[in-house]
Amino acid sequence: MTPLEIVLVAGARPNFMKIAPIYWALREHAADHVRVTIVHTGQHYDAKMSDDFFRDLELPKPDVNLEVGSASHAAQTARVMTGFERVLDERRPDVVVVVGDVNSTAACALVTTKMDYEPRRGGRSGGRRRPILAHVEAGLRSRDRAMPEEINRLVTDAISDLLLTTCRDADANLIAEGIAEDKIRFVGNPMIDSLRRSLAAAASSDVLARVGVTAGAYGLCTLHRPSNVDDPRTLVEILAALGEIAATTPILLPLHPRTRARLEAFGLATAAGIVVREPLSYVEMLRVTRDAAFVLTDSGGVQEETTALGVACVTLRENTERPVTISEGSNVLAGVSRHGIVAGLAAARSKVASGTRVPELWDGHAGERIAAVLLAAGEGA
Ligand code: UD1
Repeated sequence: MTPLEIVLVAGARPNFMKIAPIYWALREHAADHVRVTIVHTGQHYDAKMSDDFFRDLELPKPDVNLEVGSASHAAQTARVMTGFERVLDERRPDVVVVVGDVNSTAACALVTTKMDYEPRRGGRSGGRRRPILAHVEAGLRSRDRAMPEEINRLVTDAISDLLLTTCRDADANLIAEGIAEDKIRFVGNPMIDSLRRSLAAAASSDVLARVGVTAGAYGLCTLHRPSNVDDPRTLVEILAALGEIAATTPILLPLHPRTRARLEAFGLATAAGIVVREPLSYVEMLRVTRDAAFVLTDSGGVQEETTALGVACVTLRENTERPVTISEGSNVLAGVSRHGIVAGLAAARSKVASGTRVPELWDGHAGERIAAVLLAAGEGA
């Protein structure tokens, strides 16, 4: 029988830990009747932003790399679209899976819905002349349309056939937008599958000694969002908060290439007590998160990882598309003022002291549930 052809798309650092559990589950439970193709768009391309993650997550080398690289939003999106259209024309998959909210996600979703071919499983496709489009991590909303990721989420969800969600509030967001309920599946959070699987490797990593911090006696900061690092006034305010906190507790700052470039361009230096390092691999990052006294971040994924690990998290943003990390987890929204960040840290620490929860279905088995949904949809198509 012709195997079911499933394409998994990943483009940027936060995508890799979301496709890995789906890949593992398909390989383990359906290797004999499913062919999985991993397409890397090349949106992120530095070893430290990409290859190291494939190694840590035990993912094979991508079958296809579109090598789109960095560019303006329009140019990057356009390059992904033309490259991905060629891949779909050649491979004619039955199912395309996109994850998260980066430019590659929306670009590949748009291409998929406009394809016109007979999928490989031809006779079984029920007249459908394009692949089934599944979006993993659907329904998250910051309600801030100045965020490029929010636009990517809205576009991708509006055109997906299957919307796989990590939390119940995402289901409610989708229903409120008029998405048919039978397209939505609450499957839990695949990021947490990757986290649980890699905790043992993280425990034996020597990263703390290498970067020069002591378990429990440092804070961790990640900072890369354009709204925080592209405007020198905002960046100066955040650096002032970090400096104030680092006067008592050192802060490890693995620097995203965008942030490094902005610091250089603006001629800004970090205060004493801030330990600036290169970006870390997935396993290293997990270890420094687990052992941090607290985390300051503007990342989406880190808000979830700290909630899963019960580590105090201060989010340097005015909003979050992941409210469950606040209502149940260890996260506090602090904004980007110096005072707000310092006060947010005290609030997050007292929140953790009084006890937080890991959200429903963040249990390490989301990949299996996602694989089951994909197989059922692909077989029934
Ligand atoms: C992208 C995602 C963001 C995600 C982040 C995680 C979009 C719109 N944004 O933002 O949601 O949180 O990834 O990292 O998709 N660069 C390198 N090497 C790389 C990749 C990037 O040096 O491997 C530098 C380049 O100067 C580039 C800049 O980082 O111009 C921005 O990269 P880009 O992929 O456009 O967006 P991110 O800021 O990484």
